[in-house]
Amino acid sequence: RAALANELSGSEVIVVSNREPYIHNRTDGGDISLQIPASGLVSALEPVVRACGGTWVAHGSGTADRDTVDANDRVPVPPSNPSYTLRRVWLSEEEQDGYYYGAANEGLWPLCHIAFVRPIFREPDWQLYRSVNEKFADAIVAEAKREDPIILVQDYHFALLPRMIRDRLPRATIVTFWHIPWPNAETFGICPWREEIIDGLLGSSILGFHTQAHCNNFMDAVDSYVESRIDREKDSVTFGGEETLIRPYPISIEWPPTAMEGQKPVEECRRIVRERLGLPQDMRIGVGIERFDYTKGILDRMQAIDALIGEHPEWRGNFTFVQVAAPTRSKLANYRLLQEEAEALAREINEKHGGDGYEPIRLLIRHHEPDEVFELFRAADLCIVSSLHDGMNLVAKEFVAARDDEQGVLILSAFAGASRELSEALIVNPYNAHAMGEAINRSLTMPEPEQRERMRLMRDQVKERNVYRWAGQMLLAASRLRKQQRIRRLI
Ligand code: G6P
Repeated sequence: RAALANELSGSEVIVVSNREPYIHNRTDGGDISLQIPASGLVSALEPVVRACGGTWVAHGSGTADRDTVDANDRVPVPPSNPSYTLRRVWLSEEEQDGYYYGAANEGLWPLCHIAFVRPIFREPDWQLYRSVNEKFADAIVAEAKREDPIILVQDYHFALLPRMIRDRLPRATIVTFWHIPWPNAETFGICPWREEIIDGLLGSSILGFHTQAHCNNFMDAVDSYVESRIDREKDSVTFGGEETLIRPYPISIEWPPTAMEGQKPVEECRRIVRERLGLPQDMRIGVGIERFDYTKGILDRMQAIDALIGEHPEWRGNFTFVQVAAPTRSKLANYRLLQEEAEALAREINEKHGGDGYEPIRLLIRHHEPDEVFELFRAADLCIVSSLHDGMNLVAKEFVAARDDEQGVLILSAFAGASRELSEALIVNPYNAHAMGEAINRSLTMPEPEQRERMRLMRDQVKERNVYRWAGQMLLAASRLRKQQRIRRLI
């Protein structure tokens, strides 16, 4: 962490993402409350920016956000102990509908995740996506104090932004990170905006994905759809005379996580959580925690609980699955539908296998703060991450980080980037309910020494490859590039 701050001393760092790290909301009583959003991007990046300082440019989305900024739309954060500046950008409802809900979340999100939800590409949405990217480019240029800042562009909301910044700050070092998967070239090819997206991203000095497979998919797409030179050995693309390095940087979490501060001993968490949920103290518990998103395989995991109890009736009355799901993007029909389907399926399974006050599935639909999430992780016997497709998935890493008692089993989808690193999890195919049910049974009967061995190896992995390392590798590469470019200008 200190090394990171040191490497960056003397340079200006600007981060840009759609989602802001702190949301100020107005409560019913008229007070202002602070919310930390449920976003893998935010939970990974926030500790890094806290350590490096600088400016974070993001969409101001809270109901009291405007009341907490200064005349330049800036607010120092974290509110309790400020170490960097949050610069908010305001978007009209029309802009949010077209750019965020439409082009980003009905177009690019399903396009990249391949979760059998058909992407929707509307031309008016794309025009708003383009103009909102311009708006963020204006904000970044206004914030930049030097002509050669390091700019960290985050995610699929800003595919066009790197090129727009490059045109206006040609000496900037632009590092773009794509937090979601990149599909194979044929799949990407259905996107009507494919050339413009590729051109936009290739305004970056470095373009990062979680895995080498996603880097390869991106280079295949470049090869298929634009005139360029691709160096497969160096993993770089030269387009319009400029080179972009394409690199895998597996994202992670801070170590130790802030949410572990003040956590009670595991035994106490187990007791408190069971008491709060009205469960007997000897009830075995599994957890699943995420945004209510169709890429997460929430319905598939419920089918696995059904299979488990059907095939191993000894768990009826002795195992409860607690699914925490934070409402998300609810303006979109697909998200509302998923929530309705999940509620109906949970009801159906509970009627089928429950009775006498017992329910195999507890569905808790609300936002949980990181402290509560970690308490639940510590109280559980197992955690299920069954994404149908996921760039990385940080819930898997958070569960591991929460278990300093070295107990608990992680059941992890083979289609989440995290499965490449956490190979001691029980790796499953989320489309196979029977096999997932068997993995739950295996977790519930796994001897403690085996749990300990697996958990130890995974904890070493997450501790070592933490988010400071993720950011450090990217920033080191950026700072090396900057130095090389300076030398080139001198020759
Ligand atoms: C994913 C995306 C992030 C996003 C998060 C939450 O992790 O990669 O960019 O912030 O989901 O989604 P939301 O739409 O609420 O920001």
